Amino acid sequence: MSGFFVSFEGIDGAGKSTHIERLAQALREQGHAVTLTREPGGTPLAESLRALVLAERMDALTEALLVFAARRDHLQNVIEPALARGDAVLCDRYTDASYAYQGGGRGLDLGVLGALEQWVQAMPGVAGLRQPDLTLWFDLPPELAAQRLAGARAPDKFEAEPVAFFRRVAEGYARRASQDAARFARLDAAQSREVVWEQLLRAVRSKGWLT
Ligand code: TYD
Repeated sequence: MSGFFVSFEGIDGAGKSTHIERLAQALREQGHAVTLTREPGGTPLAESLRALVLAERMDALTEALLVFAARRDHLQNVIEPALARGDAVLCDRYTDASYAYQGGGRGLDLGVLGALEQWVQAMPGVAGLRQPDLTLWFDLPPELAAQRLAGARAPDKFEAEPVAFFRRVAEGYARRASQDAARFARLDAAQSREVVWEQLLRAVRSKGWLT
């Protein structure tokens, strides 16, 4: 039995976190073993890289190299073994975030990201590249996300960016979604939490992973 891989994406403030926990719980209740993880991060090395990426100023290419280095370590040590065991792998962000933040937000050449993706996500025994089976995209206007973030905990390096940055990030997600429409489920994250959850359930049920 092989597992399945779901990524959670969206701009900061879109509300992914509560839903990822809730989906993990719902899957466990139906007998799935769940690996709940995040990017950058998910291994000791990748968590160290995350701390650097979220705190230190660096150019866009350096940022991309670090998030992809973290991804490689995470894939090899957590994601691939979990999928091989048959787990449901729920990952808070994956490569679409690199396209959105480093590509859209920072303006890094998408060809560079494509090359890194080819190197990092090629896995023995996997046809093509390791990509999520489903990407839940929490789509929210950047102005609304900024309101939600205001007054929350102290912002990290990305959360401190102006709304214009998040407009470019949001465009980056929209571009990725249009290029891979079969993988993406767009959730209208401006709705109430319960309505967003219903949308999410529909997307997961359509894959047959929940009844
Ligand atoms: P986030 O997932 O929002 O975690 P938290 O809820 O703890 O704030 O934080 C991760 C940040 O890293 C987010 O601002 C987006 C950024 N990021 C990139 O810039 N590139 C990437 O490839 C990934 C995975 C994340």
